[in-house]
Amino acid sequence: MAYQWPHKHLLDIEHLCEEDLRFLLDRAHTLEKEAPATGLQTFENRPPTVANVFFENSTRTRLSFEQAQHRLGLQMLSWSLAGSSAAKGESLKDTVANLLAMSVDLMVVRHPDSGALAFLAQVFERQKVQFVNAGDGTHAHPTQALADMLTLEKQLGNLRGLHIGIVGDFLHSRVARSNVLALNLLGAKVHVCGPATLIPDALKSMVDSTSHELDLLLPKLDGVMALRMQVERQSVAYVGSARDFSLRFGLKKSRLNHLIKPIPVLHPGPVNRGVELDGSLMDGENALILNQVANGVLVRTAVLETLLRNR
Ligand code: CP
Repeated sequence: MAYQWPHKHLLDIEHLCEEDLRFLLDRAHTLEKEAPATGLQTFENRPPTVANVFFENSTRTRLSFEQAQHRLGLQMLSWSLAGSSAAKGESLKDTVANLLAMSVDLMVVRHPDSGALAFLAQVFERQKVQFVNAGDGTHAHPTQALADMLTLEKQLGNLRGLHIGIVGDFLHSRVARSNVLALNLLGAKVHVCGPATLIPDALKSMVDSTSHELDLLLPKLDGVMALRMQVERQSVAYVGSARDFSLRFGLKKSRLNHLIKPIPVLHPGPVNRGVELDGSLMDGENALILNQVANGVLVRTAVLETLLRNR
């Protein structure tokens, strides 16, 4: 039987099976080779209206969603907390209800509270509106994980059985959990490394190994991803200082030069230069950070197209 996308929203990688994830990644791989369609070619009748609703700052996620929306010929509305009535105290529910009154078909939402997207999906369950999670609190960032999987696949091929390391602050990271879930679905071996204070117990049962010695882990890896120290969520306070963190867990050219084979280095951004990554590694040939950004446009196009075509 032909595969049929089964989900109304994209809230979390947790809700996807391997086939769903494969469908989105395969579509993103294909989109790279296709000339962008016009809106009329993509959606035969009225182009759907999409609103980008960002309660937190963003560069990569927001602009790559906008690029994807241009590519699909969608009608686009942009909403930011600054300058909005939410800044005057209007609730999340009321803000979204007002956008719905303006006939929005799909909302891309970023919010500082974990569970904000699940809340919206439940409150507006009876409405046709679809939601895409653009990052909620420390919970999930599913389209970042899709961009990271596409980047790894383009560099390494099939990830099944490959050893991928993730380094840094897992306690405050919405990217980490989404990436672990996606890597597990794709059959990769996942190794997490960081200060004990920044690795929650709940994560340990989801991965193949947990360690606190980066130099012992690196030689075993086919690829490594650094996580951002969430300075705004005070993660530096858990490790003494940014310098202490960098000495033990910072990815540096000097550390990676010892490896027999060069490995790709990822980071979801924004990078705290000199903390998670040193500048020379970040600007060097093994860093795929800007590839992740470019691939973000492809996966977000695949997500929007898939959800809107299966309304
Ligand atoms: N990786 C990421 O979510 O970046 P932005 O905060 O710039 O969207």
